[in-house]
Amino acid sequence: MPYKEMIAIPVLDGELKLKFDCVERHNPHERLELILDEPPRRWEKLGDMVIFQNGTDTTDWPLEKVAIALGAKRIAIQGEIDSGIRRKSQLELIYGEDGWVVHRENFVEYEFDATAVMFSSGNVTERRRMGELQTEGEIIVDAYCGIGYYTLQFLTRGKAEHVHACEINPDSILALSKGLQRNFVSDKCTIYEGDNRDTMKQLSGIADRVILGLIPSSMKTWGLAINCLKQEGGVIHVHMNVHEDEIEEWAEKTTEWFSTVSGKVATRIHLEDVKQYCPRIRHIVLDLKIS
Ligand SMILES: C[S@@+](CC[C@H](N)C(=O)[O-])C[C@H]1O[C@@H](n2cnc3c(N)ncnc32)[C@H](O)[C@@H]1O
Repeated sequence: MPYKEMIAIPVLDGELKLKFDCVERHNPHERLELILDEPPRRWEKLGDMVIFQNGTDTTDWPLEKVAIALGAKRIAIQGEIDSGIRRKSQLELIYGEDGWVVHRENFVEYEFDATAVMFSSGNVTERRRMGELQTEGEIIVDAYCGIGYYTLQFLTRGKAEHVHACEINPDSILALSKGLQRNFVSDKCTIYEGDNRDTMKQLSGIADRVILGLIPSSMKTWGLAINCLKQEGGVIHVHMNVHEDEIEEWAEKTTEWFSTVSGKVATRIHLEDVKQYCPRIRHIVLDLKIS
């Protein structure tokens, strides 16, 4: 048969065919079904890293294909989050080169080694809430700043004047430095490396706002937080894990404690229910105005 009477049918093979199928099928679950017999129903994405839950069996997975199907370049498995004070990440990278990711959220770019530090997706609403507060011109102490979960929100979206950021974990400090550069706000942040029970002492009387972002409890720095506030007072955000039946009682007692110890009037301005931490325990943030 002469060529001009023939019809050419493109035949795609291997990775090219997979990419073609992925474009055709918009639902990532459907894409995984093309590749895996029992695809997982849930995963998380940080930048170009896809993270599957603790215990996911990936033994027979064609990892490169899974990454392509989910638009990722790296794959990791989540372990238990370290319960130690440094909250080290327990991610195990099973495909791809290194753990550094750039994760965009609420108009801020976070840069961190996901295998070295934690990034709690469950706290997304709290990060957004902090970014939406009226903090223009404020001096803020972020007592447990980590990689800049709130610090970067205050400086980029909230237009805070300066954040004094305390952190004990060198991996988090490196990530924070990169995040500050990436968001062009390095000159608006001073980092204090070490235990905040030492570093916060030098921040006496300077702050309009103090963030106490540590769970299960930030109690060890409550007194130091009061000491950081300006003479006229300011706002303190107290994070705590609280039993779901005791939230109101805890908020009342904590407000009373801050009134007594500050010698001023502590007023509850907001109570935020961030997430479930474990059965019956909620991660709560109490916003107090001290004046
Ligand atoms: C749970 S993380 C912060 C999480 C963040 N608030 C969020 O919403 O995702 C707490 C951070 O406080 C740091 N940290 C814990 N104890 C500290 C201390 N005594 N002094 C300074 N930093 C501390 C940890 O290294 C960690 O980066």
